[in-house]
Amino acid sequence: GTIEKMDWTVGSPQDAVHKYGIDTPVVTAKDNGFFFPGFIGECFHSYWDLRNRKSLTLWTRKMANGCLQTDTHIHASQYPNVGIFGKSTLLDWLTTYTFPLESSLGNPKSPMYRNATEPPDPLARAKTVYNRVISRTLANGTTTASYYATIHLDATNLLADIAFARGQRAYIGRVCMDRPETCPEYYRDESTEQTIAHTKASIEHCRSLDVSGELLAPIITPRFAPSCLPETLSQLGALAKAEDLRVQTHISENLSEISLVKQLFPDQTTYTDVYDHHELLTPRTILAHAVHLSQDEMRLIKQRKTKISHCPASNSALGSGFCPVRVMLDEGLEVGLGTDVSGGYSTSILDAVRNACMVSRHVGYVNGGDSRYNLGVAEGLWLATVGGAKVVGMQGRLGGFEEGMLWDVQEIVLDEVDPNGERGETEVDIFGWETWEDRVEKWVWNGDDRNVRRVWVGGRLVHERQ
Ligand code: GUN
Ligand code: FE
Repeated sequence: GTIEKMDWTVGSPQDAVHKYGIDTPVVTAKDNGFFFPGFIGECFHSYWDLRNRKSLTLWTRKMANGCLQTDTHIHASQYPNVGIFGKSTLLDWLTTYTFPLESSLGNPKSPMYRNATEPPDPLARAKTVYNRVISRTLANGTTTASYYATIHLDATNLLADIAFARGQRAYIGRVCMDRPETCPEYYRDESTEQTIAHTKASIEHCRSLDVSGELLAPIITPRFAPSCLPETLSQLGALAKAEDLRVQTHISENLSEISLVKQLFPDQTTYTDVYDHHELLTPRTILAHAVHLSQDEMRLIKQRKTKISHCPASNSALGSGFCPVRVMLDEGLEVGLGTDVSGGYSTSILDAVRNACMVSRHVGYVNGGDSRYNLGVAEGLWLATVGGAKVVGMQGRLGGFEEGMLWDVQEIVLDEVDPNGERGETEVDIFGWETWEDRVEKWVWNGDDRNVRRVWVGGRLVHERQ
C-alpha cells in the first residue's frame, strides 16, 4: 500500500507498517538515538524510508491548532504585507499598514485604492489573497491554522470556502471592531448590532460548510480590547458561552497598547481582567502575544484554562518585547506558536520554532544570562505540535501519532550528500554521520518549504511539492 491510500486515522507507527506495507523498521528513540527529552513518542516517530533509500523521511504528526503544522495565530488578510513594516511599532503599524490593507478586501473606498485607475473589486482581491496565503501555509506544512480575516462578511465567508475546498484545517475569524476612538471610519462596524449580526452570519456560513466543525469551524474574533465597545465585548462573550465557541484575540503585546487599555477600560485593573469581565477568558480562548503579563494575570489565565499563542517573529519585528515562554510553561500555561502574519514576516511555522528558540535566549540574557530560559529545538517543536494542538482544543486528536488521531502529516525530506559533490535540492545536507537529533536540528535551523514533500490533512493529500 502507498501512503496516499492511508485512511484518515492510523494506529501506532507499528500498525502503519503492517497496515500499509511500509516494510521499514520503525526506528524508535531508543534504537536510533533520536531523543527528545520529555516527549519521546508523544510527538515524533521516525522511519527509514526504504521505498526510497536515498532519503531520510521524518514523519511528524501535525494538526490544526497546535502542531508544527498548527499556526495558532495568523491574519490571512495581511498576507500581502509580509515583510512590510518599516520601523513601526504596534499602534502606528496598525494605522499605517494594516487597516488600509484589510479594508481593501471589502471596502472600495479603502485608502489602498486611492490611486486606482480601474474601479476596485475588493472581493476579487480577497480571493487572490486568500488563495495565495493558503498555498503558502500548506507548502510550509501548516495543516491547521487559526485565521483572522477582516470585518467584511462576504470576504470572510470566501476565506472559509477556500480553506474548506483546499482541505486545510482552519478556524475562521470574522474580525470585530467598532469602537470609534480607535478604529478608522473606513474600517469599522457601524454598531454593536452590526458586529454581532455579521459574526453570527459568518458562524452560520462555516457551519453550512462543515456541520461537524472538525475540518472547518468559526472562531469569535474581537480584534483586541481597544477596538471593541464594552457592550460588543459583552455580547461576544455571551455568544461564545451560549454556543461554546472558540475565541481569539490579542493581549498585552505592546506597552502603549496596555496604556490604551487602561485608559479605555478604567474600571478593570488589568488587560486580562478586561477579557475576564466580559466572559471572554474561556478554555477555548486563544490569546496572542501575552508579552507583558504580570504574575497575577498569568495565574488568572491558568485558572480559566485560557490558551496562549506565542508569536516570536512578530514580537521581534514590531519591537513588542521579550515574551518569557519559560516562565509561562513553569506556571503551567498552555502555549502554542503563531506566525502572526503580517506582524510576523513569514508564513512558516518552522520559522516560528526558530524564532521561539532565538527569543528565549534574549530572555535568558536579560535575566542575568540564565540558560534556564533557553528553549531547545525539541521544545520549540513540541510547542508547534503538541502545544498547538492543546491551544486549538484538539489535544489527543492532533499533534502526535497515537491511535485514533487525525492523519495530519507532513513528509519531510532531507538531502543526503552526494559523494560526487552535486548540490542538493535544499539547504539541509545530511552527511550520514549525524545522529537523528542532529538531523532534526539541522532541519529546524535550515529547513524550509523545499523540505516539505507532501502534506496530508485528515488523510487527504493537500499539498505536493512540484
Ligand atoms: N493587535 C490588534 N490588531 C493586531 C494585528 O492585526 N496584529 C497584531 N500583531 N497585533 C494586533
Ligand atoms: Fe495578530
